[in-house]
Amino acid sequence: MTGTIFVTGSGGMVGRNLLEHAHAAGYRILAPRRAELDLRDAEAVSRYVAAHRPDLIIQIAGKVGGIEANRREPSAFLVENIQIGLNVVLAAREQGVPQLLNLASSCMYPRDHLDPLQEDMVLTGMLEPTNEGYALAKIATARLCRYIRTEEPALRYKTIIPCNIYGRHDSFDPIRSHLVPATLRKVWEAQQAGSPAVSIWGDGTARREFMYAEDLADFVWEAVERFDDLPDEINAGLGDDYSVNDYYHVAAQIVGWDGRFVHELDRPAGMARKLVDVGRQRAFGWQPRFTLEEGMRRTYEYFLGKQARSAAGAVAA
Ligand SMILES: NC(=O)c1ccc[n+]([C@@H]2O[C@H](COP(=O)([O-])OP(=O)(O)OC[C@H]3O[C@@H](n4cnc5c(N)ncnc54)[C@H](OP(=O)(O)O)[C@@H]3O)[C@@H](O)[C@H]2O)c1
Repeated sequence: MTGTIFVTGSGGMVGRNLLEHAHAAGYRILAPRRAELDLRDAEAVSRYVAAHRPDLIIQIAGKVGGIEANRREPSAFLVENIQIGLNVVLAAREQGVPQLLNLASSCMYPRDHLDPLQEDMVLTGMLEPTNEGYALAKIATARLCRYIRTEEPALRYKTIIPCNIYGRHDSFDPIRSHLVPATLRKVWEAQQAGSPAVSIWGDGTARREFMYAEDLADFVWEAVERFDDLPDEINAGLGDDYSVNDYYHVAAQIVGWDGRFVHELDRPAGMARKLVDVGRQRAFGWQPRFTLEEGMRRTYEYFLGKQARSAAGAVAA
C-alpha cells in the first residue's frame, strides 16, 4: 500500500517502535500526540480524520498498565479504552477511511485456558478479573470493526491481537510496568542496593508470553504491506511461553546479579497461562526474530541508558 497513515498512540512503546522501524520511512505518517488530539474527544477525532483523510489508520492508543494499575482504576481502563477505540473506528467509518488496523490485546481472551488461545475464542468464557475493564473495551472495539466489515465490505477494519509486549520505550515505573521491565528493574535495584533477595508475586509458575516490541512493529508493517492477505482477526505472538520465574532468572543473568528469589504467595498472580495460537500468523507467513535473551538484553540496555540520562539530568540541574 502507499499513501497516508494516521497512527494513534505514537508516543507509547508500541507506537515508537513502529515509527522507528525502517519501513515507516516509506509512508507519509500522521502521528499527533495526546496534547494535539485527545482521542477521548469524539468530535475532535472526527474533525481530525475529516481534515487529513488518511488511507489507513493504525489504532494503537490506549490506557495501558500492569495488574496493580488495572486494579486501582478499573473504571478508567474501561471507559478511556472504549472511548478511544470507538471514537477512532467510528470517525474512520464516517469519513470512509478504507483500511484500519486495530491493536487489541490477548487480555480479551477468557481466563485460565491452558491450550493456546485461538482468535474465535473471544467471548467464550469469563475474563481475568484483574484487567476485565480493559479487556471489555478491547472486545467492544474489535467487535465494532467486525460489524463494520459486515455492514460495509468496502471498509476493511482488521484486528491484530498481540500477546504481551516489552522492549525499548517500555515503562519501568513500579506501578505501571508489566512483568519484563519490572523484573529488570527489581533485579537491577537489588544489585545496586546490594540486596540479597528479590520478591516475586505468587509462586512464579504462571506462564506468560512476551514478544519484543520490535518484532510486533515488524508484524504490523508486514500487515500494512500485505493488507489483503491479512486475516480479519489475527493473533501476534511467539507461539511459546515462559514461567514468571524464568523471566526473573533471565533478568538476573542479564543484570549479573546472583541473589535469591522469594515468593509472596498472598499477592495476585493473574492467569495460570496465557499463550496465543499462532496458526493464522504462520499461515500469513510471518514469525518473530528476537529470542527472549536478546530482547531482554536490548531492553536492559535501553533502561540503563535512561537511568544514565536521568542521573546526568539530575547532576546538571
Ligand atoms: N504493552 C503491551 O504489552 C501490549 C500488549 C498487547 C496489546 N497492546 C496494545 O498496544 C497498544 C499500545 O500499548 P503500549 O504498550 O504502547 O502503551 P503505552 O506505552 O502506554 O502507549 C499508549 C499510547 O496511547 C496514547 N494515549 C492514551 N490515551 C490517549 C488519549 N486519550 N488521547 C491520545 N492518545 C492517548 C498515549 O499517549 P501519551 O504518550 O500522550 O500519553 C501513548 O502514546 C494498546 O492499545 C495496547 O492495548 C499492548
